[in-house]
Order: sequence, then structure tokens, then C-alpha cells
Amino acid sequence: MNINLNINNKIYNLQVDVDEPLLKTLRTLGFKSVKSACETSNCGLCTVLIDDLPHLSCTILSVQCESKKIVTLEGLSEEVKIIGDFIAEEGADQCGFCSSGFIVNVISLKRLYPDIRDELFIKNYLSGNLCRCTGYEGQMRAVRKYLEV
Ligand code: FES
Ligand code: FES
Repeated sequence: MNINLNINNKIYNLQVDVDEPLLKTLRTLGFKSVKSACETSNCGLCTVLIDDLPHLSCTILSVQCESKKIVTLEGLSEEVKIIGDFIAEEGADQCGFCSSGFIVNVISLKRLYPDIRDELFIKNYLSGNLCRCTGYEGQMRAVRKYLEV
């Protein structure tokens, strides 16, 4: 099927299978920040923004994304630098495999709820982003710092 996708403000004309997940399309195009992990909506590693809201790209079909605005980590470079520095400062990055999906979701949190400081709300918002290496404490310290800038 022939579709047009708007990814990071650039239009891509593509031939995709009707049942192709957006995750596969994005990785085939070279957006390797979008990680392929559980592919069952459980880990959050494939998170991207679609029309400014976080979505699991393993769980949505590419054909459903026509006329929507898709943004990957590659399209968020300024904000990624800020939160990425806090994550590094707090030693919250170990293997780093979870980081791109986590960062996309943290950026969406700040954009949607810039004044939020409620710890429980923040943890609930980010609860879909799993990390196998850390205890989440470093990430939370980084998120608190990021919400203050
Ligand atoms: S790869 Fe999509 S949620 Fe795990
Ligand atoms: S740092 Fe390894 S999975 Fe999160």
C-alpha cells in the first residue's frame, strides 16, 4: 500500500504492508532510536510522539498514521540534549537500551504538564517505560531536574 508519512517534519512516500507496524517502518527508514524490544506493548522502548502524544510504535500500524505528525527522538534534539545530560549526571544510564523511549516520554510529560511535580503522577506517567538495569532512582532524579528548567 502506498502511503505518505510525516516523520520529523519531512514527508516520506512509502510502500508498506497493510499490517506493518510503525516500529518496523521507522527502523527500516533508519530511525534506529526507536528500539524494537517486546513488540507486545509492554516495555515502552518503541515510544514515539504522534500528534504530540506518546504512542507505542509496535502497537500502531503505519497505515493508521497517514496525515498525522510522527516525531522520533531524532526530531527532538534540543530537548534530548537537556534531559540526556541530566540522565548522564545522575548515572541513570547503564546499557542505555531503554533511554530513547524513556526520553521521548519524559519530553511529552514536560510538554503536557509543565508544572507537574507530583511524584506519584510522574511515576504513573512513566510507568510504561521499563528498565532492566537500574532501580529508576537515577532516572527520577534526572526527571526532577529536567522539570525545573
Ligand atoms: S517494543 Fe513496543 S512496547 Fe515494547
Ligand atoms: S539502562 Fe539498561 S535497560 Fe535501562
